[in-house]
Amino acid sequence: MSSNLLAGKKGIIFGALNKESIAWKVAESAHAHGATFTLTNAPIAMRMGEINELAAATGSEVIPADATSLEDLENLFTKSQEILGGKLDFVLHSIGMSVNVRKGKHYTDLNYDWLEKGWDVSAVSFHKVIQTAYKQDAMNEWGSILALTYMAAQRTFPDYNDMADNKAYLESIARSFGYHYGVKRKVRINTISQSPTMTTAGSGVKGFDGFISYAEKMSPLGNATAQECADYCIMMFSDLTKKVTMQNLFHDGGFSNVGVSNLVMDQFMGNKE
Ligand SMILES: NC(=O)c1ccc[n+]([C@@H]2O[C@H](COP(=O)([O-])OP(=O)(O)OC[C@H]3O[C@@H](n4cnc5c(N)ncnc54)[C@H](O)[C@@H]3O)[C@@H](O)[C@H]2O)c1
Repeated sequence: MSSNLLAGKKGIIFGALNKESIAWKVAESAHAHGATFTLTNAPIAMRMGEINELAAATGSEVIPADATSLEDLENLFTKSQEILGGKLDFVLHSIGMSVNVRKGKHYTDLNYDWLEKGWDVSAVSFHKVIQTAYKQDAMNEWGSILALTYMAAQRTFPDYNDMADNKAYLESIARSFGYHYGVKRKVRINTISQSPTMTTAGSGVKGFDGFISYAEKMSPLGNATAQECADYCIMMFSDLTKKVTMQNLFHDGGFSNVGVSNLVMDQFMGNKE
């Protein structure tokens, strides 16, 4: 599906690790809609080399950057503007990682060094990305900056662990910086709160399969896929959403507003089909 909704727009896409990554689908869709962009990921994630395939398919250059390193980010924004030939119109932050989740540390027994690392990668990096763009005045007016989040920021999902707190922080940055960047440059900043999706980051969460089928049964429209999330990102990068800023936007088939569904109730009423 392509409509040239992003014709002439330039951007940076963080976080495409493999074909399952939400950022991968966003890159393919942004390309199909006429955008040009650079791709970036942590140097360590480049080892797999899959991102080069995406770069070739979308005519993009890859610039490695650890999103927690201001030096890497400064280089990324400078080079991206050189390569793309001007200021940027969109940035996607699609980054998440908790060392405590990875190592199976329970929320009631957190390792605080790991907590700090995960917080820096998953939440503070969003501030660092935006602040780098802000200081370099790297965004065009009405530019759009997006990060991906999950509803555990509002409601408790026990095994989401310290990522829940990281997401709450991430969403707050969208509001706080959204104010300042809006006033200064009319740049909008939002988060999209996506359904559970089978990706490398997602499947790291304990009991993720159960998570996905529960959400599927709770959501009147079913879970939103990675491709559907990409479609939403394209709309948020387009000029059709110029006055949307400082929002956390649920993209979850209705899950966040459902108390219980008949499908889930059936499990408790012995009506399993
Ligand atoms: N999969 C889900 O169920 C789900 C649901 C809601 C929100 N999200 C969010 O979507 C975003 C993308 O995740 P995904 O599901 O596509 O998984 P993914 O594993 O494909 O993407 C996560 C990315 O973060 C990158 N990353 C990790 N540390 C980094 C660093 N220091 N610097 C730069 N990049 C780094 C990884 O290399 C990877 O590309 C994350 O913010 C995630 O929390 C995912």
